[in-house]
Amino acid sequence: MPGTIIVAGIPGVGKTTVLQELENVAREKNVPLKIINFGNVMNDLFKKRGTTIHRDHMRKQDIDLQSRIQQQAARIISRTPGKSALVVDTHMFIKTTDGIWPGTPRKVLEALDPSMIILIEADPEEVARRRASDSTRYREGGGIEEAKADLAWSRYMASANAVLAGVPIQIVQNRDGQQRQTAIDLLDVIQKRS
Ligand code: AP5
Repeated sequence: MPGTIIVAGIPGVGKTTVLQELENVAREKNVPLKIINFGNVMNDLFKKRGTTIHRDHMRKQDIDLQSRIQQQAARIISRTPGKSALVVDTHMFIKTTDGIWPGTPRKVLEALDPSMIILIEADPEEVARRRASDSTRYREGGGIEEAKADLAWSRYMASANAVLAGVPIQIVQNRDGQQRQTAIDLLDVIQKRS
């Protein structure tokens, strides 16, 4: 496999929207790319254990259970077959009931073995607005100050990951109404590295 790239962004930053655009842009430019959502893999694993749970409620589960499922998900993702670059859509941290918890702790990072970490960011005011207007999800923390703090936490965690894995970090801005341009920027960054 040419390489695994971790793409992370705080809830409400527009990660899913941008990654959907990325699939379109990559197809148009004939760039082979596979995108896997870490939360989907975890959600399937919860279901297999007999716990059907909304994706926004996984973070409320017992942290030891989340940790076991998180590591299992990383192992499954690491066995993804194929020759294209692999984009892992995930989070640098999760707000659990026990506190702020790393999305890619050491064992997960080792399993994923990324060649790069990309953070999708947006203006905190825009993040707060997107969180407030997205009625399809259960999101906590709608304020601008909370969005600012979350963006900072994402960078702190990315720094720790980059040091452990010895890989670079890139930041891509998802400006209002510019999701396609964000996807184009993201593909440029990915192509340079994979
Ligand atoms: P996940 O599904 O990754 O959750 P999420 O971040 O809450 O949500 P999304 O990625 O779906 O999207 P988003 O909020 O960035 O943006 P959206 O495109 O919807 O993860 C789910 C759960 O899985 C986690 O909570 C956690 O429990 C678990 N998990 C995942 N990884 C894990 C890990 N490594 N370890 C442990 N647990 C893990 O956009 C939001 C809104 O903004 C939309 O209304 C959209 O239309 C709008 N919008 C987007 N872009 C723009 C733009 N450019 N201009 C205007 N509006 C925009």
